[in-house]
Amino acid sequence: MPNVENVVRVSKPYKLASREFHPEDTVVEVPSACVAGGVVHIGGPEVVMMAGPCTVETEKQLMTTAAAVRKEGAVILRGGAFKPSTSPYGFRGLGEEGLKLLAKARDEFGMAIITEVMTPTDVAMVCEYADILQVGTRNMQNYMLLDEVGRTRKPVVLKRGMSATFEEWLLAAEYILSQGNRNVILCERGIRTFEKTTRNTMDISAIPLIKRLSHLPIISDPSQGTGRRDIVGPMSLASVAAGTDALLIEVHPNPDEALKDGAQSVTIDQFRELMPQVHAVAAAIGRALV
Ligand code: E4P
Ligand code: PEP
Repeated sequence: MPNVENVVRVSKPYKLASREFHPEDTVVEVPSACVAGGVVHIGGPEVVMMAGPCTVETEKQLMTTAAAVRKEGAVILRGGAFKPSTSPYGFRGLGEEGLKLLAKARDEFGMAIITEVMTPTDVAMVCEYADILQVGTRNMQNYMLLDEVGRTRKPVVLKRGMSATFEEWLLAAEYILSQGNRNVILCERGIRTFEKTTRNTMDISAIPLIKRLSHLPIISDPSQGTGRRDIVGPMSLASVAAGTDALLIEVHPNPDEALKDGAQSVTIDQFRELMPQVHAVAAAIGRALV
């Protein structure tokens, strides 16, 4: 056709998420008052540390953890207010009260907030408090939720479904992208295998593979990925070596008393010891932490 300059054939079923469609890396911008310039870039040259409690339990627990992880260099604070729970009798989070505490922590420490949203009807409310929306492993194929977060323009961390193939995961990202939200960040958090020594099998190969298949940033959650605080450190370092754009680490002042996922939450001391190692591995591959 006379007016067509170039035609790009995109053979993958996920078009907008594919590297073929968009050869340059996508860099997602997150406002974060604690960094120079006020914006954290996820997917750029620097590695980003996101850390905090699995679950917002009390103001004291959240503020203690936030102060500690900020002091060690985290620029994004994680914390769940709406918690998926395998058992209906398990702790399911403080809801909006937890979001208010996260907002208070942001005011105090300047870190951006990442928190999970579980239902389409909560998206607008969670957007009032969060800087990054998290779609958890259990909801990776909740298509109504994907559509709804896609209608916002907030950064979205899309966790890998615990039994999802790369194609299924990237097609889930495609739902969000196709609604117009281009701020999608993928998160490897381990998959279900036959192995019982760990809660999940952390698929480090996902990090370089996603980089080849997609232009979207890929981050790593070694807490969910292992379920064991004794190996969160080594798997964090392995993730950085493999090219992760960020780490998402669960930290608790007293993990043995945590209401959720204590076994995989590192102590504040463990987090403090890990940070210089993360810096060293990042430097070894020519990167630095934000
Ligand atoms: C994440 O933090 C989830 O809420 C948590 O891992 C679920 O754990 P459960 O399966 O023990 O309820
Ligand atoms: C979480 O990070 O709080 C969480 C629920 O993770 P996942 O969806 O990976 O289990």
